Amino acid sequence: MNPDDRKALKDRLLNQARAIDSARHAQATPIDRAVSTSEHYPLTETLVTTTDFHSLEGYRRIAMMRTLGDSLGITSPFFRCHQRRAGATSRLGDQDVINFANYDYLGLAGDRRVLDATHQAIEYYGTSVSASRIVAGERPFHGALERELAHCYQSDDALAFVSGHATNVSTIAMLVGTRDLIIHDSLIHNSVVVGASVSGATRMSFPHNDAQALDRLLFDHRDRFERVLVVIEGHYSMDGDTPDLARFVEVKRRHHCWLMVDEAHSLGVLGATGLGLHQHCRVAPGDVDIWMGTLSKSLASCGGYIAGCQALVDTLRYLAPGFLYSVGLAPQLAAPARRALQVLQEEPWRTTRLTQNARRLLDGIQALGLNTGSSEGHAIVPLILGSSARAAKLSHALLAAGINVQPILHPAVPERSARLRFFVSCEHQPDQIDQTLSALERLTNTD
Ligand SMILES: Cc1ncc(COP(=O)(O)O)c(C=O)c1O
Repeated sequence: MNPDDRKALKDRLLNQARAIDSARHAQATPIDRAVSTSEHYPLTETLVTTTDFHSLEGYRRIAMMRTLGDSLGITSPFFRCHQRRAGATSRLGDQDVINFANYDYLGLAGDRRVLDATHQAIEYYGTSVSASRIVAGERPFHGALERELAHCYQSDDALAFVSGHATNVSTIAMLVGTRDLIIHDSLIHNSVVVGASVSGATRMSFPHNDAQALDRLLFDHRDRFERVLVVIEGHYSMDGDTPDLARFVEVKRRHHCWLMVDEAHSLGVLGATGLGLHQHCRVAPGDVDIWMGTLSKSLASCGGYIAGCQALVDTLRYLAPGFLYSVGLAPQLAAPARRALQVLQEEPWRTTRLTQNARRLLDGIQALGLNTGSSEGHAIVPLILGSSARAAKLSHALLAAGINVQPILHPAVPERSARLRFFVSCEHQPDQIDQTLSALERLTNTD
């Protein structure tokens, strides 16, 4: 877009935002006059506006994004509807596409063995356990899944929750409180930030993957707090890079903190046999206090888990609100996760092929002179474009060329690092990756 067009677009967006504001204002005023005669409930204009959902800051941002999309002549990249299982390929509307928008990294969401285990579980146990496990009781598949997860981390026990996001929120809120500190990587997932704010603990962040900066922060602040929880991810979902686990273990030991690792994108992806960050970094899993992961990526299901020592898991089992006050994992969620975990370990070639595919894509994009940030090529490859409009336009153009990849726009990332994000699967074929690279070469040259 040339500078004149960009200025015209900016003016148009500002005018539309002002128009939205004045329309809200015009609507609010008569209502205000009509009801403000009430002695008991005097409503000011401001109060009336606060009951109008259009006035929400978040809604205004959505409206602006829609306007931007319309101005650029592109359809929304969000909530695209897949007409069948979304694996390495998918069908969007009536178009077949090569798909890089889902994180079924090991291709197990449609695996025959995983489907069969799911069907058998539903036939036998029905489709719901209908209530919280503590009151309504468990089923054998709950304990079986948890024992197998614990085995992966050589830990005493594990606990499975119905949502990965809720796992982080509930666990963090349960473990720390107002006298404590949570200190996390600056790129940590939203669920950790929400958990920290629910907990009431003080929250700090350190620059991405910088164990030395964490060390300095702890030197300065550790003694003001009772307990300190350090949270990192095993494989960062926006950037595709990994932390040096041994360094983080060393720092947490020096300062007497708990270390929690979120393995959402590292189980099945990192390590010679897919066992995650500890295997990748050759660190004993017992050196990490709290292993967290999700069932929704490599494990082809939905839910989350915590693995660790017995006292930790017992505390969460009896007290974590998202476990205690929420329904137990349904058969059709526990059974595929368990079967996928078994296949993950029986077939390490899946992790190997995933890495080969991601490497092929990463090397190819870099060979085009494009910016892949700090991606290490395990499964997540960002293509950093530097503007939300550029990212949205390229995603749109790639879709027209039969390739589905999501743009990540401001405010999900800073505007200057707006990007496309490729999730690679072990099911992608080399020619699908090469076809994607050719399309990228063509479309970024004409950009
Ligand atoms: C690092 C991380 N943690 C937690 C979650 C939440 O997991 P779920 O989507 O399974 O609820 C996600 C989701 O993508 C994630 O990327």
